[in-house]
Amino acid sequence: MRLEKFVDPLPLLQTLQPKRKNKDVTYYEVTMKETKQKLHRDLPPTVMWGYDGIVPGPTIEVKKNERVHVLWKNDLPRKHFLPIDETLHSVHGNPEVRTVVHVHGGVTPPDSDGYPDAWFTNGFRETGPAFRRKVYEYPNEQRASTLWYHDHAVGITRLNVYAGLVGLYIIRDEEEMRLNIPKGEYEVPLIIFDRSVNEDGSLFYPRGPEPPLPDGPDPSVVPAFCGDLILVNGKAWPYFEVEPRKYRFRILNASNTRNYLLRFDTGQSFYQIGTDGGLLRKPVQLQSVRLSPAERIDMIVDFSKYEGAYITLENQTGCGGGFDPERDGAVMQFRVTKPLREKDTTVIPKYLSELNLPPKHSIRGIRYLTLNGGTDEFGRPLLLLAKRMWDDPVTETPRVGATEIWNLINTTAFPHPIHVHLVQFQVLEHQPFDIDHYNKTGKIIYTGPIQAPSRSERGLKDTISVPAGTVTRILARFAPYTGRYVWHCHILEHEDYDMMRPFDVIE
Ligand code: C2O
Ligand code: CU
Ligand code: CU
Repeated sequence: MRLEKFVDPLPLLQTLQPKRKNKDVTYYEVTMKETKQKLHRDLPPTVMWGYDGIVPGPTIEVKKNERVHVLWKNDLPRKHFLPIDETLHSVHGNPEVRTVVHVHGGVTPPDSDGYPDAWFTNGFRETGPAFRRKVYEYPNEQRASTLWYHDHAVGITRLNVYAGLVGLYIIRDEEEMRLNIPKGEYEVPLIIFDRSVNEDGSLFYPRGPEPPLPDGPDPSVVPAFCGDLILVNGKAWPYFEVEPRKYRFRILNASNTRNYLLRFDTGQSFYQIGTDGGLLRKPVQLQSVRLSPAERIDMIVDFSKYEGAYITLENQTGCGGGFDPERDGAVMQFRVTKPLREKDTTVIPKYLSELNLPPKHSIRGIRYLTLNGGTDEFGRPLLLLAKRMWDDPVTETPRVGATEIWNLINTTAFPHPIHVHLVQFQVLEHQPFDIDHYNKTGKIIYTGPIQAPSRSERGLKDTISVPAGTVTRILARFAPYTGRYVWHCHILEHEDYDMMRPFDVIE
């Protein structure tokens, strides 16, 4: 199926309205529902699952220190419409359709963090072993940042997110609001993800690897998934009409596996102002930027010199093999065709924000954590963290308030975007090592010098792509809550099997 690009206007995200609000707390309700959405002009409507029945879900916008309570409700069908692999942890014997919501990047108490075993079914009729509460509480005691919420149910996260359970969660604060940067209708969130559809418009997700394994389970998890369509805010290759002026775009990669290398076909630069964890110290001028699953970039783009132009936001990297320009090459189009409503007085500030990086002087723990590839009993790839399965006993137990260095040692042949809950960390450095030697002897021999993080990795991050054959060092302070959290690869096919581990923040 070949679809014409840039024929649908970009959908703008809706903002969620609270059910109640007083000086102490803002209360929201969100219901997960089945829905039908047109992903492209020439496609029949697609059955999806959305928060409040829309994909992406409504944006939750809060102020720093605003106490927010959310009742997340599941009103989904009993049967999943995507292929469930019963051999994955905690899937067999449990209801098919289980959900739990995680605010990604949030500093959230553990019983509201969306622990994968804290799932619940339609109407809370059944709940998982870690389920503690219906109403989740978000203190939002953290700096302004572009967070997002998504499903996190154990063993089926890749399917629930693929079905559409994704939305944005924006925290604003005084410091950021004081900046003279584009605001209001000139601040536009863009959520990018890929999907494949069948002729009838239904979502396609593979039943198993191609060719199938002779003795493998059916359905079976796959080690990677790349969709044929690239969507922004739920439409395939949309166009967006803009004025010849500056815009702020908050971009999230909400894809299962796909990463993007974004640039404009005009070659024009843009100015990155923020990362996962909020504003950078200073804007960084870039011509292109890589975005792995779950990463966010906050940027200002100036269209003032491009009146009348049609500008493509390109993607320069393939997925699961070669680069196919027709399938992989474009994300969306900007049309600088709207008249300038009033003079653009916004600026690209020289200085943005104090970063408050984790303190380097009192490091309480240094951990060496491998990313491993292996094979399971069916001959399928089995990816692990620290050579352990999800349900093996907890091994990482940072003390509350402690600053630690985690050495993420990627012994596999692919990059993995590693995400740690509860914290916003600093990427210290990357260093290449000899994978073969490591896999034979368990010893690290470095094959090159320490590399500083790239210019777009120098803010606060909650997800970092660890390149193959590289040790990536991150610095994090584990606070303010104690309790059980998770860290994992954010390629959702890896997270589900079995690149996710619990950790305990202890007293
Ligand atoms: Cu984006 Cu553990 O999640
Ligand atoms: Cu998270
Ligand atoms: Cu991975």
